[in-house]
Amino acid sequence: ASPVRLGLAGLGTVGAGLVRLLGDNADWIRRRVGRDMVLKTVLVRDLGKPRDAALGPDTVLTTRPSDLTADPDIDIVVELMGGTGAAYDLIRGALESGKHVVTANKALLAERGPELFALAGRKGLGLLYEASVAGAIPIVQTLRESLAANRIESLIGILNGTANYILTKMSGRGLEFGEALKKAQEKGYAEADPTLDIEGLDAAHKLVLLIRLAYGENYPLSRLPVQGITRITPVDIRFAAEFGYVIKLIGQVRRVDGRLDAGVCPMLVHRDYLLANVQGAFNAIRLEGDASGPMLLHGKGAGGLPTASAVAADILALARPGHLPNNTGFLEESLPEAEILDP
Ligand code: NDP
Ligand code: HSE
Repeated sequence: ASPVRLGLAGLGTVGAGLVRLLGDNADWIRRRVGRDMVLKTVLVRDLGKPRDAALGPDTVLTTRPSDLTADPDIDIVVELMGGTGAAYDLIRGALESGKHVVTANKALLAERGPELFALAGRKGLGLLYEASVAGAIPIVQTLRESLAANRIESLIGILNGTANYILTKMSGRGLEFGEALKKAQEKGYAEADPTLDIEGLDAAHKLVLLIRLAYGENYPLSRLPVQGITRITPVDIRFAAEFGYVIKLIGQVRRVDGRLDAGVCPMLVHRDYLLANVQGAFNAIRLEGDASGPMLLHGKGAGGLPTASAVAADILALARPGHLPNNTGFLEESLPEAEILDP
């Protein structure tokens, strides 16, 4: 069978993780989908930057987005740059040129997802985004496929690895907030702009994507109540512990009388609850479907290889002959706006 030709935008933490994964597991992937993955072109900002990623001799490094979007040989554009400007132009350009897109960009899909999904739908193309929520955890697939017949009654989770890492380090080793954030950045967990992580916005982006998948409604990001962890002090954490609680940054949504009650904020979680025991950059999501009952998904929520695992799953889904996954999980070209429970 013909190889799958990829155009990769971004060779940072996740992009380099993807190059490594596709290289290390090439034989295994060929056994799964019967096709080779060929990395044809990689878009970066700075051609002179030293790179660890082991690119093959035929892979071209470029700074021109059109080398991906206008290349008729590229089947799938993988967007791992981040941000909502250049990434929007690239994804739009790729879809307009008839290419499938895989992205980890929750900020962009939270803000402009409806428009991009509508375009992908009109073109009959995949716009897949498993990696955009909770790193390696297959939450998009779970909501879109495995629980598709369920009405989701509630969803609550730890959706940001950086914030959970900081809170864990502040309690366990008593690190200062700034010191813990620096370590999270060194490990590649944080966003390029880490205020997104610590102010709760990254978790908010992910919650908007989860609400779309779970309820089939667009929840405007601007209406979601969001509070981050910047005002949490070691004293708060110590006091909470004395009463048997752990402080966690939680995103949650439930349906109340036909309306959605949703938000992101730090919460006291009793130490006997599973969510209280999610450590470091791990994420966890507790879901309750009307038929499935409750379940908890727990795993690595950030980092190069765990996130690349989810990106690669989407690439493989597009590489398999036949079935094209439905991007939003619903048949409508545009989803209705959510009815929101006012506080
Ligand atoms: P990095 O900052 O590590 O890497 C970004 C890469 O994109 C760099 O290679 C950079 O080029 C390139 N880039 C950025 N802007 C442009 C541009 N305008 N034109 C061309 N190239 C550009 O980011 P991450 O790998 O951490 O994150 C990538 C995406 O994945 C983001 O959307 C993020 O939210 C998402 N994500 C990240 C996770 C993580 O754990 N890090 C987990 C889940 C999702 P150069 O190298 O030349 O600077
Ligand atoms: N910055 C994000 C986090 C990356 O820490 O959770 C994973 O989406």
